[in-house]
Amino acid sequence: MTDYLPRPDDKFSFGLWTVGWEGVDVFGPASRKPLDPVESTYKLAELGAAAVTFHDDDLVPDDATRDKTLERFGKALADTGLRVEMVTTNLFSPPVFKEGGLTANNREVRRYALAKVLRNVDLAASLGAETFVLWGGREGAEHGASKDVRAALDRMVEALDILCQYALDNGYPMRFALEPKPNEPRGDILLPTIGHALALISELEHPEMVGLNPEVGHEEMAGLNFAQGIAQALWHDKLFHVDLNGQHGPRFDQDLRFGAGNLRGAFWTVDTLLGSGTSNSYDGYVHFDYKPPRAEAEDGVWESARTCMRNYLILREKVQAFRADPEVAAAMDAAGVGELAQPTLGSGESLSDLRAADYDLVALAERSVAMEALDQLAMEHLLGVR
Ligand code: GCO
Ligand code: MN
Ligand code: MN
Repeated sequence: MTDYLPRPDDKFSFGLWTVGWEGVDVFGPASRKPLDPVESTYKLAELGAAAVTFHDDDLVPDDATRDKTLERFGKALADTGLRVEMVTTNLFSPPVFKEGGLTANNREVRRYALAKVLRNVDLAASLGAETFVLWGGREGAEHGASKDVRAALDRMVEALDILCQYALDNGYPMRFALEPKPNEPRGDILLPTIGHALALISELEHPEMVGLNPEVGHEEMAGLNFAQGIAQALWHDKLFHVDLNGQHGPRFDQDLRFGAGNLRGAFWTVDTLLGSGTSNSYDGYVHFDYKPPRAEAEDGVWESARTCMRNYLILREKVQAFRADPEVAAAMDAAGVGELAQPTLGSGESLSDLRAADYDLVALAERSVAMEALDQLAMEHLLGVR
């Protein structure tokens, strides 16, 4: 039993916009006072985070205060030992991006969006960030004919090619990570799921520099299984970053703290990040992108940040116990899990051999798969009775 207190090598990271969310929603104004992002950095360090991330506008919203803020922020990083592991650009709040940023119909807007990202890539590099996230919340449409999707994808590819080349030309050790989301704020967003984003990457000039930053809630809004989605991203070597939070099924983007909402999904998410019993694990920062509920006051902000990390550590312990349990190993054998690693065609075997073989279809149809028993063991580990 541990105390579930975070340590630097747990690599927990928070967006400054998460704790900084003031509770503005479509039905009402802010319910909390703005937090100073530099003060939040100290507070997150105190709670045990190892890194912070931000959008340009979270930290340096205007040129008049930019230098002073960066100086204070630099001191906070030095005082706490926190690092900036990821940076992202706000291409969704300023009204100029109301119809998109990098894929707006209006070319001037696209040029301004690209300039805003380039400036922020420089800032990210100067702070030592090695991951740059692109979330296209406004890249999308509400109406069929208003957006030429093929042209929009051309422009997305153009922007990514420019950004990769820019990083290479400047010697920045930076990788880009696309964050899929099906809808909100646009009615339908381009690159809505992990699968859509993976497919786009294969069209790029530098596909090796671009991967994904999937978010739990975004895949679940689309009714998809997050753990299976990131397993595929890992299989493609494309899980560059991750946004952990909680969600109750397909509805608005809830951005709950990690572990809230779909708890079983969170268990399998942690299992997948740890490699699902294999060496194909995620070794990046464990990044939380959630929103402290609007009903909470500032105490609830810090409590929710603390418990994102605590829930991860509890789930990690449960997952490790599940994987180490000899009864689980036996149940996996009974379910034939390991057999899937064997190629379907034997070495040296021909398709004629495969076609001519005798298949006992009755026995195969009636065989035990023993998957309920295996799943129950996982359930009991999660429920704390094993
Ligand atoms: C959301 C998104 C955003 C992005 C972030 C990075 O809640 O819909 O997750 O929080 O992750 O803006 O650009
Ligand atoms: Mn979200
Ligand atoms: Mn996110």
